[in-house]
Amino acid sequence: MISPSILSCDFTKIREQFEMMNKAGADYVHVDVMDGMYVPNISFGLAIISQLRELTEIPFDVHLMIEQPERYIEDFVKAGADIITVHASATKHLNRTLNLIREKGVKVGLAINPAESLSILDYTIKDLDLLLLMSVNPGFGGQKFIEQVYDKIACAREIIDRENPNCILEVDGGVKLDNAERVYKSGANLLVAGSAVFGVEDPMKAIEDFKRIGK
Ligand code: DX5
Ligand code: ZN
Repeated sequence: MISPSILSCDFTKIREQFEMMNKAGADYVHVDVMDGMYVPNISFGLAIISQLRELTEIPFDVHLMIEQPERYIEDFVKAGADIITVHASATKHLNRTLNLIREKGVKVGLAINPAESLSILDYTIKDLDLLLLMSVNPGFGGQKFIEQVYDKIACAREIIDRENPNCILEVDGGVKLDNAERVYKSGANLLVAGSAVFGVEDPMKAIEDFKRIGK
């Protein structure tokens, strides 16, 4: 499956980009929220997301790169999130935050940065609908895939198969058409692609190609 990241979109043409994603059959829309604190960059927030929500039926995969995301879970649900992913390292009481997302009626995602261990999964994996492995340091589109993450994807796949087989394994950062096959083969089943979709000449073809590689 493929989740194009609108962080790399030309926002002056946002309506066309959504029409394109609808036609291409994107599985999710990846929505990167950055607060300038948890990550160095600032992206967009609630008002924009609720407006974009009207442009598609595709589920919104909202990736919160914000400090203390628990403060805003309810607001992002109201804005139209279908999955909310928080970073383990952004919230003090992760179990409480994951429960809160569940209580608000959306799918629960957990993100792990490149240098962070999978050990946090020992006591969280059963609570998750989605595990997001970062393959770049969060904050910017267009960075290079960090090679060590391939092995980590394979380890995460084993844990998921054993403990919670329905959990989606999403990989985010530096995913391109030329490494997508290796990412899928390592065990991911949902790829985020920002610049590899919106930074190329034919974004629709890119989405279709990603989907084909995943089959
Ligand atoms: C990075 C974001 C990514 C980003 C990916 O912090 O979480 O979702 O948009 O962009 P690319 O695919 O260009 O690496
Ligand atoms: Zn992301």
